[in-house]
Amino acid sequence: MTSISSPLIAPSILAADFARLGEEVAAIEKAGADWVHLDVMDGHFVPNISFGPAIVKALRPHSKLPFDVHLMIEPVDPYLEAFASAGADHITVHAEAGPHLHRSLQAIQALGVKAGVSLCPATPPEALSEVLDMVDLILVMSVNPGFGGQKFLHSQLRKISTLRGMIKSSGKSIRLAVDGGIDPETAPLATAAGADVLIAGSAVYGREDYAAAIRALRNSN
Ligand code: DX5
Ligand code: ZN
Repeated sequence: MTSISSPLIAPSILAADFARLGEEVAAIEKAGADWVHLDVMDGHFVPNISFGPAIVKALRPHSKLPFDVHLMIEPVDPYLEAFASAGADHITVHAEAGPHLHRSLQAIQALGVKAGVSLCPATPPEALSEVLDMVDLILVMSVNPGFGGQKFLHSQLRKISTLRGMIKSSGKSIRLAVDGGIDPETAPLATAAGADVLIAGSAVYGREDYAAAIRALRNSN
């Protein structure tokens, strides 16, 4: 059994009030969040458009927390530098976003930020076996990427356990995040399977009291 005592909480600003994004980012830091999760969507890799590097840059002075940038865009390589200079601390790309994941990870490493890879629900954990030594973060999508507020896919729990095993065997300290449909009911399932970062949009920004919402997720296991 995996025992992860206190998962990191990374609220996704996709569910925040876009007219007041600076305040919304500052508010979750005050409420006890560990990372700020920023969902970048291009209307091509995923069927929705959110925001680009200019917004990341504008938000940077509003928080000292690590900016965890989740790129749901294709192609991704031409934009990596823009997100790094905008203030991203972690850049996560999708394994499905192009034929050269290894090259994208090399480019992220060269920019001096932490490198992450995300897997869509249909992608097997083995897609990462040849690049495990290059990643600092793995992000398991527990919904199909593109929208907040979707239902958690329980089928992804097995993938989380398999990845936890792969991380353990690698001997590397790689963070394992879960993203999509995370709330106080699903969070304990994800942490029991081995996730140590909980990304949540609606379950934080959709609540009145952000601090209580973050506590509810952190203490739900
Ligand atoms: C979905 C995004 C998620 C999303 C999560 O494509 O990657 O980060 O904002 O939203 P909730 O927590 O509402 O499912
Ligand atoms: Zn995300």
